[in-house]
Amino acid sequence: MSRLDSVIRRLEAQRRTLDWAAAEIAGRDGLVLELGLGNGRTYDHLRDRLPGRAIHVFERWPAAHPDCMPPAEFLVVGDLRETLPAFRARHGAGSAVLAHADIGSGDPAVDAELASALSALLPPLIAPGGIVLCDQSLDLPGFDDVAPRLGVPEKRYNAWVRRA
Ligand SMILES: C[S@@+](CC[C@H](N)C(=O)[O-])C[C@H]1O[C@@H](n2cnc3c(N)ncnc32)[C@H](O)[C@@H]1O
Repeated sequence: MSRLDSVIRRLEAQRRTLDWAAAEIAGRDGLVLELGLGNGRTYDHLRDRLPGRAIHVFERWPAAHPDCMPPAEFLVVGDLRETLPAFRARHGAGSAVLAHADIGSGDPAVDAELASALSALLPPLIAPGGIVLCDQSLDLPGFDDVAPRLGVPEKRYNAWVRRA
């Protein structure tokens, strides 16, 4: 498989899980979290699929395309290891119905360290039945891995649902 094929498969898997999650949470209360703004592509996709819904965006160095910058009141600037605990203190445990984390840096050691931190920081924020999507493999006891039943090719993207 060429590197172009590989990137396309990853992006298709990402879009598939985002579209599935947006449909799943329609009509359900709870916050939507986008971790890692980057260029703003997946934030733009989520706001397109979830019109009118507030999306809280976390990023340490916001530098997205100007059209894809969230409103200031929904942009949480700083390192996730500090901003997620503060966000939970403000909004409460179990307040999020969807968290999408696209935080890969291309450095496997850095990514593994952050994935380990997110494995501890995300579960307390997620409501029963809530969804976590991530480009990294997370260790989430109490969650079901639903990527296989979504038809996501192995290791292309990750999706979990919190058991009730
Ligand atoms: C792969 S990019 C996100 C791409 C984005 N989903 C898009 O579609 O344009 C990863 C982003 O996560 C951010 N990031 C990585 N580690 C972080 C951390 N510890 N705290 C906050 N942001 C972080 C990076 O600054 C980068 O903007």
